Amino acid sequence: MGAYRSAYERSIADPTGFWREAAADLDWFRAPERILDDGAAPLYRWFPDAELNTCHNALDRHVAAGHGDRPALIHDSPVTGAVRTFTYAELLAETARFAGALRRLGVGRGDRVLLYLAMVPEAVVAMLACARIGAVHSVVFGGFAAHELAVRIDDARPKVVVATSCGIEVDRVVAYHPILTAALAEAEHAPERCVIVQRPQGPAELVPGRDLDWAEVMTDAEPVDCVPVAATDPLYVLYTSGTTGRPKGVVRDNGGHAVALRWSMRNVYDIGPGDVFWAASDVGWVVGHSYIVYAPLLTGATTVLYEGKPVGTPDAGAFWRVIAEHRVAALFTAPTAIRAIRRQDPEGELIRRYDLGCLRTLFLAGERLDPDTWEWAGRQLGVPVVDNWWQTETGWPVAANPRGLEPLPLKPGSPSVPVPGYDIRVVDPAGREAPPGTDGSIVIRLPLPPGCLPTLWGDDERYVRSYLTTFPGHYLTGDGGRFDDDGYLYVMGRTDDVINVAGHRLSTGAMEEVLAGHPAVAECAVIGVADPLKGQVPSGYVVLRADAEVDEAVLAGELVALVRQRIGPVAAFRRVRVVPALPKTRSGKILRRTMRALVEGRDEPVPATIDDPSTLTVFRGPGASP
Ligand code: COA
Ligand code: AMP
Repeated sequence: MGAYRSAYERSIADPTGFWREAAADLDWFRAPERILDDGAAPLYRWFPDAELNTCHNALDRHVAAGHGDRPALIHDSPVTGAVRTFTYAELLAETARFAGALRRLGVGRGDRVLLYLAMVPEAVVAMLACARIGAVHSVVFGGFAAHELAVRIDDARPKVVVATSCGIEVDRVVAYHPILTAALAEAEHAPERCVIVQRPQGPAELVPGRDLDWAEVMTDAEPVDCVPVAATDPLYVLYTSGTTGRPKGVVRDNGGHAVALRWSMRNVYDIGPGDVFWAASDVGWVVGHSYIVYAPLLTGATTVLYEGKPVGTPDAGAFWRVIAEHRVAALFTAPTAIRAIRRQDPEGELIRRYDLGCLRTLFLAGERLDPDTWEWAGRQLGVPVVDNWWQTETGWPVAANPRGLEPLPLKPGSPSVPVPGYDIRVVDPAGREAPPGTDGSIVIRLPLPPGCLPTLWGDDERYVRSYLTTFPGHYLTGDGGRFDDDGYLYVMGRTDDVINVAGHRLSTGAMEEVLAGHPAVAECAVIGVADPLKGQVPSGYVVLRADAEVDEAVLAGELVALVRQRIGPVAAFRRVRVVPALPKTRSGKILRRTMRALVEGRDEPVPATIDDPSTLTVFRGPGASP
């Protein structure tokens, strides 16, 4: 039996033995004796009696082992021209001091700290500093607007907010500080303090009594040590889009997370101490949490923090420049980024300008990897292109090709096989297992392995209702797909109202809430429509109130501006069209799936329950997509 098959089977037959062994790769203040607590099933907790500190395992441990001079973090920022390397000893010194600064501001174990930061080293320092003192960080992606920030502030109730004065989008300075101020004006919860990282490209005018300057709090901060926390204590809360406008606060524990990420780095990504790993994502997304910050540092590898884009900073060769300059062994990015590069450099001429001999693997995730992009990247780079499928909730890959454990044959269109720990099933609507080749809902049999969400922040009930109720005993991924005869999984897309725009997960429900708030709109629907660059883009359809007197083009402009202002530029909402009516079932449910199929020109049986088939006409043929 191959190494993969035997590890997989053991992980399912003997999960406690499997994860007990994996846990031995970490330092514990109190080593786990009990591995899994299933006393409150379907809620499970890993390593219930253990204590550790994630920051200790990410930094102190490597310095104590004599690796203080090894590069830990390379900040490469083409938008500012800065390139700076922090050794493990330097990153530890900064982190211990900022942890001291946070403690002086009254932040202690279990307190939340909200981070709204550009891709600067302070983001990594602040995350690790929270971990060091047992505080819970909640990072909000910079592309979200004030309202989204306010919603997260009210749910997480942070004691302190840490923000950069601005972000830089290619050549445009985006002032973050006014967005923070607007969010605080909207939020009911008031944090005690805001710590602002002042950037010379766009310094903020600090608010007296509320804001402190990062540089000043660091000057006289005393470094502090790691505190032991329970393995089950939360390390962070990361909000992700659900089907409604209210984001879900995905909770990550300390122990299971560290064990799973450490295991994945070696066995999935084939990265060891001293290797350079680059996840070209953002710390505001789960890929950034897991594979920019925690997994590479827990491994003693070097991580790259890149403040730039795949194209435009300055050109489509930017990724290859970074790989060659920092001797990157593996790049992890989203298929969209590769499509954007390909569009500008279809023959790969810029690729050949750089020495990419160091690159062993390209990992792609965040959205479906289309076989065409897979084939192009493999041909141009001459390295394996490895799709991996997972989500914010799981925190690490659910299906992947386990490069470190046993590289398996790659198949285009498939993220390969279930990762050890994940008992994946494809089921029909009645919960019966679908045979190979048949599409169904992808579910994971409980318990989920370590590292996956134990619950939603402050809301066990919502966790159970959203994920564990549809198919009892199983976690609902929200994705649909199938297995083939070789046990390879094919993930075809979401079965709910979540869409994926340029690798960013967004809720159509949230956009609908914004559109419905416009006085001229009687009802509306937002669907994700296939897009050759971004995978999907949102398209809005609105029905006007009978008494509305508006110019349709003016209204469309107002609605686009409203979504940008409420949700943020990242929603990429640019298309909206006025229609006479929306297709609905007789019970009033909007037929979004049918709309999407028609707009994309696919054949889809029209549900027999449709109320008025003539409502479908406007969604057919060219021009159906706004
Ligand atoms: N702060 C402020 N604004 C931000 C932002 C941030 N951190 N990130 C994105 N935005 C803005 C962009 O400036 C853009 O604004 P615009 O409408 O004024 O142009 C908008 O949000 C959409 O951004 P983006 O999705 O990045 O689209 P783009 O057209 O600028 O770039 C790609 C297209 C494909 C190059 C880009 O989407 C990309 O790199 N995608 C990869 C995503 C990724 O790595 N995801 C993580 C999963 S692994
Ligand atoms: P996020 O929570 O932002 O990581 O988004 C998770 C969602 O992105 C999943 O539920 C999938 O719909 C999609 N996704 C992520 N990776 C892949 C992949 N490799 N193949 C297909 N879909 C993916």
